[in-house]
Amino acid sequence: MNQNYIPPEISNELGRFGPTAAADRNLYSRGMTTKTLIEIDGIPVTDLVKRFGSPLFVFSEARLREKAHHLRDAFRSSYPKTTFAWSYKTNYLSAICQVFHQEGWMAEVVSDFEYQKARKLGIPGEKIVFNGPHKPRAILEQAIAEGALIQIDNWDELCLIEELVSERDQPIEVGIRVWLDAGIRPIWSKFGFCLESGEAGRVASRIVNNPKLSLHTLHTHIGTYILDPAAYAVAARKLVGLREQIRVELKHLVTCLNLGGGFPSLSLLHGMVGDPEQYVPPIERYADAITTVLNELPTKLRPELRFETGRYLVDEAGYLLTSVVAVKGVRHPVMTGGEWALRDYKEQLILGEESKTSYLIDAGVNLLYTGAWYQIKVLPAEARNLPLSPVRLYGPLCMAIDVVRYNVDLPPLNVGDVLALHPVGAYNVTQAMQFITYRPPVVLIDTAGKPQIIRRREVLADIEGPECLPDSLRPEASS
Ligand SMILES: Cc1ncc(COP(=O)(O)O)c(C=O)c1O
Repeated sequence: MNQNYIPPEISNELGRFGPTAAADRNLYSRGMTTKTLIEIDGIPVTDLVKRFGSPLFVFSEARLREKAHHLRDAFRSSYPKTTFAWSYKTNYLSAICQVFHQEGWMAEVVSDFEYQKARKLGIPGEKIVFNGPHKPRAILEQAIAEGALIQIDNWDELCLIEELVSERDQPIEVGIRVWLDAGIRPIWSKFGFCLESGEAGRVASRIVNNPKLSLHTLHTHIGTYILDPAAYAVAARKLVGLREQIRVELKHLVTCLNLGGGFPSLSLLHGMVGDPEQYVPPIERYADAITTVLNELPTKLRPELRFETGRYLVDEAGYLLTSVVAVKGVRHPVMTGGEWALRDYKEQLILGEESKTSYLIDAGVNLLYTGAWYQIKVLPAEARNLPLSPVRLYGPLCMAIDVVRYNVDLPPLNVGDVLALHPVGAYNVTQAMQFITYRPPVVLIDTAGKPQIIRRREVLADIEGPECLPDSLRPEASS
């Protein structure tokens, strides 16, 4: 035997080490083990569906707070001057925002709607960070009057702000959004001013030289689902460099560096195999990478460090519960029997179609925008000790592209079986499209384990509300 033989590592793909793990799944055998989700915060998933209907978004308050504490502690333990703003666009349900506000998070908003939403939740202007490439004049006027921190995106916006503050006695604090090369591709160059070309330095100079403006923050958001903590170290170092340039050349010390969002949740992009834990570094690695750069500065020169984290905080706290409404393909239960199954199989082959069982579920891609990039996990709500096979999950929309998963290994399912789709807490509720059906209710399981409705199911009046029917088109006009 070769002395250099290194025994292969047994895959932990299904969460099990040990001699039987490899037998659970290899190229020729899909095994019998599938991950399930029997309960959320102690409540059986099937009970939630019985009580609130299907489909149903469910959020865990305990998980939201746990993630907030984890993030805060990871940074503050090595850099106490760290502050956080909740990225509203990731999920702006009032109850979700309130959880983070109760944890001491500011609001990070990117539009007039989000700004007004934060104000309605009682967040004062000084606790609002205002981002976004287009901030209409009226909302800028309000934000200036209320003392929000506007992070300027472009020269035209700067010109408008200069005009709006020209008559003020006191300067207002502003930030600038900077885009830079942190090694992540593609670079999000749509937003802000370029660092490397010197543009960000020029805009900083113009702001510092305007007595009605005070440059408070340098901001960059390098992207989302960033798997490499080193990219943040590069971004932090570059912003520190710009801040130093402003301090030396313009004699102005910028108070705050804002590194945006982008920390990944435990999810996988399409094409990745294995478990997210194999790819997603713990948050402490990001904290280390960033705070090491800032802690190199003399204590007196250390800036406030701010984040506008979204995905990392909320994604794993959110589930979409859905039910099987029909079984299609070679395993439809009402047409079982060798002959029919064989005939279906052959017919599909003749048509050049892959022959597989498909399940029609009651939640579609209109509720799962992130499914275009991420593999959403499909977890049966009951354990089944039956062999897995690759199946397709169709959503209920009358559209061919409504496929929730093209290929996922599941045990045989029947109409009425409940599945949990996870993680779906980031971006899906805010981007859910109302299309041919009503958007589902959202439930938050509070820290006492009580499910509370935080958004009821839509009704016809919600959708028709903004519509106006001219008199000539009213039903009575046609008679
Ligand atoms: C300016 C800004 N800040 C923060 C975020 C939140 O990002 P993430 O959800 O990746 O943490 C985004 C999202 O794209 C953003 O555009």
